[in-house]
Amino acid sequence: MTAPLAKSSLTPDQQLRFGLIGYGYWGPLLLRNLARQDNSSVALLADVTEPRLAEAQRNNPGLRVTSRVDDMFEESDIDAIVIATPLSTHFELAQQALLSGKHVLVEKPLTDSSAQARELIALAERQGRILMVGHTYEYSPEVERLRQIVQNGDLGKIFYINSSRLNLGIFRKDADVIWDLAPHDVSMINFVLDKRPVAVSARGSTCVHKDLIDVAYIDLRYPGGDEAHVHVSWLNPNKERRFTIVGDRRMAVYDDTAGNEKIKIFDRGVDRPNYSTTFGEFQLSYRYGEIVIPFVAGAEPLAVECQHFAQAVRSGQKPRSHGEVGLNVVKALEAAHESIDKGGVYIPISW
Ligand SMILES: NC(=O)c1ccc[n+]([C@@H]2O[C@H](COP(=O)([O-])OP(=O)(O)OC[C@H]3O[C@@H](n4cnc5c(N)ncnc54)[C@H](O)[C@@H]3O)[C@@H](O)[C@H]2O)c1
Repeated sequence: MTAPLAKSSLTPDQQLRFGLIGYGYWGPLLLRNLARQDNSSVALLADVTEPRLAEAQRNNPGLRVTSRVDDMFEESDIDAIVIATPLSTHFELAQQALLSGKHVLVEKPLTDSSAQARELIALAERQGRILMVGHTYEYSPEVERLRQIVQNGDLGKIFYINSSRLNLGIFRKDADVIWDLAPHDVSMINFVLDKRPVAVSARGSTCVHKDLIDVAYIDLRYPGGDEAHVHVSWLNPNKERRFTIVGDRRMAVYDDTAGNEKIKIFDRGVDRPNYSTTFGEFQLSYRYGEIVIPFVAGAEPLAVECQHFAQAVRSGQKPRSHGEVGLNVVKALEAAHESIDKGGVYIPISW
């Protein structure tokens, strides 16, 4: 068993008291899932927008709320703080939470710079507190299954992964489509391959606002020659969440918008006989084998993520999406922006 990372101040029968900062789009979902954790409660909700607090109280009678965010850090009986506010506020809020001795779960992406992500990781270590990032898809049963399939070698050598996350909106003011949507794709690819990228190239368009990238294509290179391609867009007529893994033995498609059959494994591929020596003789044989739809027991990824955070706080064990995992994604997205500024060249990432 790995040694506990953080000092746990809770005995197993003690109530875990959460604080939540941010009750916009994502905060209500976190509140619902945090409130459901065993032997836990949401002790305080903070948001700087009064109407959001009024809405929270209407939906959750008895919930304590505040528009003074410092209350959250000053309350000594809050053990862990969950941050669901705009990206530009993540660093400062997480820093204050750690300095006040709280464990922290920050929504994705961890920060908007790798320097700040590193600072939070070091601070959490010094404080002996858990730092986790809300890479929700890493807690999805389907993504876990894809990781197993890839790590078992069921697909053979991975040629490439393609991930598309497209929709009409929702446009954000504080973050472009890369910071908003691509954290999901990059965290999924890193998790499934169990690697982090060594170089990133990207192109982006600013269709609606001249200063805000709303469509982007990101190419990632991984150690061992694996490649991944990410397409994110706020300007697509319909919703698409498709993750395709192409190996030299089989191919897998994960469609997050499909009902019960989200993963399909295709026994398909192209074989190139090794006796061809000239183009005239060059013959490819196409395999159209069976399609397998594995049974994956459903679970709400956010519920699993909140449960994982609660367990990490109680046990002091490093969570799956710990600070460095968050940093890996931030570094890739930072490199994507640098590449766009430099006309799409590959930006090497040093680790
Ligand atoms: N994991 C996921 O799948 C997922 C999905 C959606 C959003 N998110 C993340 O959650 C975070 C919030 O996104 P959202 O869509 O809910 O945003 P939002 O703009 O809808 O809500 C943000 C809320 O934070 C409040 N706020 C802003 N600054 C604050 C501050 N300094 N202190 C306290 N409250 C403050 C705002 O009043 C608002 O109510 C983002 O980091 C986003 O990337 C994650």
